[in-house]
Amino acid sequence: MIPSVIAATGLFTPEQSISNAELVEAYNAWADRWNADNAAQIAEGDLAPLTHSSVEFIEKASGIKSRFVLDKAGVLDPARMTPNIPERSNEELSVMAEMAVAAARQAIAAWGKDVSEIGAVLCAASNMPRPYPALAIEVQQALGIQGFAFDMNVACSSATFGIKTAADFVGSGSVKAVLMVNPEVCSAHLNFRDRDSHFIFGDVCTAVIVEAADHAGPGGWDIVGTRLQTAFSNNIRNNFGFLNNAAPEGVGKPDKLFIQQGRKVFREVVPMVSEMILDHAGDLGLEASGLKRLWLHQANINMNELIGKKVLGRDPEPGENVIILDRYANTSSAGSVIAFHLHNDGFEAGDTGLICSFGAGYSAGTVFVRKRS
Ligand code: COA
Repeated sequence: MIPSVIAATGLFTPEQSISNAELVEAYNAWADRWNADNAAQIAEGDLAPLTHSSVEFIEKASGIKSRFVLDKAGVLDPARMTPNIPERSNEELSVMAEMAVAAARQAIAAWGKDVSEIGAVLCAASNMPRPYPALAIEVQQALGIQGFAFDMNVACSSATFGIKTAADFVGSGSVKAVLMVNPEVCSAHLNFRDRDSHFIFGDVCTAVIVEAADHAGPGGWDIVGTRLQTAFSNNIRNNFGFLNNAAPEGVGKPDKLFIQQGRKVFREVVPMVSEMILDHAGDLGLEASGLKRLWLHQANINMNELIGKKVLGRDPEPGENVIILDRYANTSSAGSVIAFHLHNDGFEAGDTGLICSFGAGYSAGTVFVRKRS
């Protein structure tokens, strides 16, 4: 196998963000309306009244303080409770491709090479806007990249699955460099009328360039090892698809949006991921406690802190287990890459860290990286 490196990364962050207070105000206004509309059935005992959401609960249960979104007004309108993202004609660049191009341009600029050196584009994300043509091919065309492109979806783990796929293409000599993008419009798949989960997700896009080590310039990160794991579970699920008939109002078919059994996810995924990281580190001859930084999937603060503690075998020092979900919320596949992109300073050549994602499927991916000189 030809060794591969993460040569550059990029990040697109939407301009609009929603605080917990704004989100809770909208939810509570909607719940009050729903209760008023159903007052007779509630009085008869046929329906239970909806209770209010709370800022304190959200921050304590998730660690999230705000989230970036493509459209704030639609989400916060109690009569709508879903983003207003106008449909574009087939001749226009699609919304997700636009996000991906912005993140990719940043990565390409940081890389400092011409796009002609990229041989493949992967779009790895939780929710695609359409079955085909592949979003990755649209991004490929918009950036003027030759070669081939395709989409892949492993939910929140998509980015690490994408990095491994890219590293394997590079490793086999198929291509010299791969662009991998993770556009996530989670707000379009989140049920803002569900008190248990309305606060979880945000929108964003990340981009990663994986390149053959013998082709790469100085700097970047050696990919020391990659590993993937899956085990079927219905505890995080989204049935959007060809059977989708969710009205814009969204109430008719909530299972066509994100649903989860949060407690079960917590209980089952934490041990699965912690063991996977420790096993993989051991097989690579790495001492997990010696990792300089963890860039984990940004699920929620409690899950991330527990995995960080299990992996390092102690309470992480400030900044060792990077948390960005306070500002970004859970951004599905992009979370670990945002953490890596924003907080990879202070490394000496030879220092090692871990990019790790996990989520629906269940699925999990580990990518150990070492700073190059
Ligand atoms: N505002 C106020 N109270 C709320 C609330 C809200 N928005 N949502 C739920 N509650 C209440 C519930 O009604 C419940 O009250 P009760 O005990 O009186 O019945 C209480 O808070 C606990 O609810 P629960 O859903 O059990 O919360 P939790 O402590 O398990 O936290 C998650 C919920 C989702 C944050 C938590 O389960 C979790 O972090 N799971 C991991 C899953 C995950 O991160 N998935 C992302 C994909 S990887």
